[in-house]
Amino acid sequence: MFTGNGEALMSVVLVLGYTTLGILALCAVNLVYKTLQSRSRHDISGQWVVVTGCDSGIGQGVVTALSKRGAKVVACCYTENGASAARAAGASWAPHFDLSDDAAVRDVAEKIQTQSHGALWCVVHGAGTVLPGFVDYQPINFYREVMAVNFFAPVLLTQKLLSALRRAKGRVVLVSSVDGIVSLPGNAPYDASKFAIEAYADALRVELSFCGVGVSVINPATMRTPMADSFFPAHRKTWDAMAAAEPEGDWQTLWPESWLNQYVEKNAQQLRSIAEDPAAAVNDIVHAVTAVHPKLRYLSGRLAKTLFYALWLMPESWSLRFKRLTVQPRPPRSST
Ligand SMILES: NC(=O)c1ccc[n+]([C@@H]2O[C@H](COP(=O)([O-])OP(=O)(O)OC[C@H]3O[C@@H](n4cnc5c(N)ncnc54)[C@H](OP(=O)(O)O)[C@@H]3O)[C@@H](O)[C@H]2O)c1
Repeated sequence: MFTGNGEALMSVVLVLGYTTLGILALCAVNLVYKTLQSRSRHDISGQWVVVTGCDSGIGQGVVTALSKRGAKVVACCYTENGASAARAAGASWAPHFDLSDDAAVRDVAEKIQTQSHGALWCVVHGAGTVLPGFVDYQPINFYREVMAVNFFAPVLLTQKLLSALRRAKGRVVLVSSVDGIVSLPGNAPYDASKFAIEAYADALRVELSFCGVGVSVINPATMRTPMADSFFPAHRKTWDAMAAAEPEGDWQTLWPESWLNQYVEKNAQQLRSIAEDPAAAVNDIVHAVTAVHPKLRYLSGRLAKTLFYALWLMPESWSLRFKRLTVQPRPPRSST
């Protein structure tokens, strides 16, 4: 037998129990629904898809995967060698040009419009470049070079292909990075370019939603590609460029060559140990291109879904502490 208070407590427990069960059941139904929904794909055979950055890495994988699905892939490459490899992987057309050359981008876009008869299913902006280095020794033209490929090229190419994308009610896929949501030290030009592409994607998504064109963003964590392999050794290129431009600058006492050598060696090893299979990013891009209900954002790879997602959401004062720990060894003159 319950007393009056005991009965009231029991009712509260029962209500809370049923509410929790109800919420769990709704979550389970939602999960099943989302899983089934994400599996339904468009047949993209015969559809035109443009991919940039196809000489190597993620872009190269995307060309192979989409060609296997029967898409007519325009594989935009940097080099002649890259273009022949892309053709061998099944690309219908593989122009090679410098994406930082506006005239070349306009010319290729015009040819794509003609070839596709003005109906383009998707453009995947996969090309990217990185010039790492700490801000003290980053020449200003390195920011411009990185922005040219990672930001201005996708902006111009998208604009020149918009009418064809609208006609097909197609989609735009922008390959950003985890650095597009969490900026890490030693890579400011790249981080800035990826944050810029995120802001562009947000605006573009709303504007294109009125004509049925979708926009997805891909945020890969570190993947085993030529870009990641050369990341830490490339610090030296930046350091050398500043040493040539400003040999007497006091930046060298703050960031001496002896420190640089240790920094590159230690971190290159660490990066190799965390780099993931680029197939994770390739699969997410293929999903964004083919799914009936593509996601707005794909966090590609284990570290993107865990560490970087947490860093993105946590208070900035906490993530600052973590980011400071990533600078190892500390430059000799750092005060704290
Ligand atoms: N790998 C990672 O850890 C990682 C992580 C996050 C995000 N991402 C992003 O994923 C995308 C693909 O990178 P990835 O890892 O596959 O690296 P990747 O193998 O170096 O691919 C980048 C591609 O862009 C091309 N490219 C660079 N500058 C160009 C220019 N001026 N004109 C035309 N093409 C140019 C490169 O051509 P060349 O090979 O001939 O230079 C290469 O084909 C990039 O947007 C990158 O920022 C990569």
